[in-house]
Amino acid sequence: MAREKVVLAYSGGLDTSCCVKWLQDELDLDVICMAGDVGQERADLETVKQKALDLGAIKSYVVDMRKEFCEEYLDKCIYANGLYQDQYPLVSALSRPVIVKHLVRIAREHEAKYIAHGCTGKGNDQARFEIGVRALAPDIEILAPVREWELTTRESEMEWAAAHGVPVPVTKASPYSIDDNLWGRAIEAGVLEDPWNEPPEDIYTMTVAPEAAPEVPEYLEIEFYQGLPTQIDGKSGDLQEIIEKMNLIAGRNGYGRIDMVEDRLVGVKSHEIYECPGALAIIRAHQALEELCLERDLLRYKHNLEQNWAQYIYDAKWYAPLKHALDAFMRTPQRFVTGTVRMKFYKGTLTVVGRKSNYSLYDEGLATYGEGDSFERADAAGFIKLSGLPTKVWAQKQVTREHTI
Ligand code: ARG
Repeated sequence: MAREKVVLAYSGGLDTSCCVKWLQDELDLDVICMAGDVGQERADLETVKQKALDLGAIKSYVVDMRKEFCEEYLDKCIYANGLYQDQYPLVSALSRPVIVKHLVRIAREHEAKYIAHGCTGKGNDQARFEIGVRALAPDIEILAPVREWELTTRESEMEWAAAHGVPVPVTKASPYSIDDNLWGRAIEAGVLEDPWNEPPEDIYTMTVAPEAAPEVPEYLEIEFYQGLPTQIDGKSGDLQEIIEKMNLIAGRNGYGRIDMVEDRLVGVKSHEIYECPGALAIIRAHQALEELCLERDLLRYKHNLEQNWAQYIYDAKWYAPLKHALDAFMRTPQRFVTGTVRMKFYKGTLTVVGRKSNYSLYDEGLATYGEGDSFERADAAGFIKLSGLPTKVWAQKQVTREHTI
């Protein structure tokens, strides 16, 4: 009888390389590897592809997901100004769903019974893989070898690897756990585990230190059409090009570093460092345009839902029904989010210094303290009286009570 098949999310690193062998040797499965290109830096993916074959995988795929990642995943994050704990633009949380989609596609093509990932049992990514697979293919079973292993130390893992013919990296492994894509980089572990430690400068690759950034500010104009950026300084590009360009501009000005203590899905607090120059700059510009173009109640309500959206994505629910409904809500008002934002980068800061739109709700006649004032001052007194009435009634009761006690 033919062996059952498993599709493994493969990165080329030590963990997932051990997974290839383990799935073959211990579970007697045919292993199909898939590596996704989501715009990560060390994307020598042809080498990764070959490495999987050398380890005995029966098939090895490298899938370029960049365009799709931008146009079906990151777009939604921009609409929703998605920032987990008001800070983190969900770099890893957004890439897992697109990877899962292709794992499932390949699993179907090969009639695979299993999908496997190399996540540990302590992080969020295991949940994103597994809940994602369950949503798209509830019949496919999930294998998580790394979570099962007793290989708790890096040394014992290397020993196991050497004994089973998995090439062990000769260079000293980075002490950090890094995940990156077009939307930014996540860096954790090593000396960063102590939140009192200032991160060493050499962990950053997308941003220069603010103090090393140019002494003169850099200005740019970013244009949005229906909620998405389409031009920088008059030059059009698709979303991927705009994001890449924004990463460069914001990064060279030292903008986009995040140092936070994050609440993981599994209940642990962890110290996480990110650099997300393009993501943060685009979201900031989008927020600035929404402030100008969206009606007050809608803007307030949306802001509350944005926090729910980010939490939900962080918590691995990309494919859950509530998420689709929230997306629809976020999408609806975007047709008014068309216009231009002028941004000023300077030594690690970003300031919005101009915004304009044909959909602007800003009415100079209503806002001005100068000439041409069209605001009806007489309406203010009655409006304030009624709006303060409940407070007044409450306050009067307090006074009476105090006197009677
Ligand atoms: N804490 C972040 C998140 O959950 C980043 C995870 C990075 N993943 C990794 N394997 N280093 O989204």
